[in-house]
Amino acid sequence: MSFFSDLFAKKEKSVLGVDIGSSSLKVVQLRKERGQAILETYGELALGPYGGSEVGQATNLSAEQITETLKDLLREAKVTTTSCGVSIPFARSLLTLVKLPYRKDPQEQKTVIELEARKYIPVPVNEVQLDWFIVPQAEPAQFADAESAAPTRETVEVLLVAVHNDELALLQSVAAGAGLAASFYEIEIFSTIRAVVEDPVKPVMVIDVGAASTKTYVVEHGVVAISHAISVGSQDITRAISVSGNVSIPQAEALKKKEGLGTDGALGSPELVFSRIFSEVRRVLMQYETGHKKSVSSIIFTGGGGVTKELGAYAKKTFSIDVRVADPFKKTEAPAFMRPVLEEIGPEFAVAVGLALRKLEEV
Ligand SMILES: Nc1ncnc2c1ncn2[C@@H]1O[C@H](COP(=O)(O)OP(=O)(O)OP(=O)(O)O)[C@@H](O)[C@H]1O
Ligand SMILES: [Mg+2]
Repeated sequence: MSFFSDLFAKKEKSVLGVDIGSSSLKVVQLRKERGQAILETYGELALGPYGGSEVGQATNLSAEQITETLKDLLREAKVTTTSCGVSIPFARSLLTLVKLPYRKDPQEQKTVIELEARKYIPVPVNEVQLDWFIVPQAEPAQFADAESAAPTRETVEVLLVAVHNDELALLQSVAAGAGLAASFYEIEIFSTIRAVVEDPVKPVMVIDVGAASTKTYVVEHGVVAISHAISVGSQDITRAISVSGNVSIPQAEALKKKEGLGTDGALGSPELVFSRIFSEVRRVLMQYETGHKKSVSSIIFTGGGGVTKELGAYAKKTFSIDVRVADPFKKTEAPAFMRPVLEEIGPEFAVAVGLALRKLEEV
């Protein structure tokens, strides 16, 4: 399965977002015009068939196989640019929120953070790329006071982000092998946030239901306050349907897409798998809410599994908060007739859209 779209084919100032997911590759090409992000083309190619498994199932392909698939995708989607940003799988990265000593001087603060970070990263620091963000401490309304409050401040909350050099090397070889010039590699959840979370907002929980895993995190003031990867994804629903219904994987995949959690849960298995996912989501939600003494205002579903039929209703019943499905293409300009399609496929492309939006800022 693959689908492609070639909307407008102009060359100048075009950028590309490349999402290397566990089950498929996705690309989104945007161009900036009068401050708008114009959608030029997008495409997706399932990795399964390239690695001896089925569409919708996660794969573990070599860099060479991913490169070949990406080349096919770039050609079939008629991508006309090589300037891109590439996603880093959340499962291959480490995010930790730590409290460190506060320093007023930014340069000193940087030194403190980079020294202290060593204690929290479970591998030698020279084996990883390290990044960090300072978490805004007060509510926006209190920021006016920040200057006077600063001297009494003793700690600062820092989100440490580490990615193993091997993972980056793999991604770099894929990008170079496919003839692309990647100017950054970004952990997928940051790309998704850019594409689907409106800012400024109350705390929002994002749930990215991928093929191999479900990524869940709470975003507050544009910063990730808590994050967790659940090693259950939409591929497990297909497998469960296949076993319980005694049908092949492709048949189960089709059933999953057709019914989802609908028709009074006739399939049974999707609900079982989602209840496992949701019990972990609930744990993350409670940990956030007790730790930060704030409630999450809404849940945003994204990823291919995020469009599962009746998932929204099921989640609303489980969590009793506002639930919606991500619409990342809303941040792009596209012909009106494309809208219904873009809304439907959007969640799967959230990471690629977010990457392309960041890349556009460079133009
Ligand atoms: N309409 C649908 N209903 C239910 N599931 C769907 C639907 N469309 C796609 N999926 C499932 O979503 C999964 C793919 O989602 P996505 O493309 O977000 O995953 P990925 O990015 O490759 O994986 P990961 O994020 O785990 O690395 C597949 O398992 C697919 O079967
Ligand atoms: Mg994904």
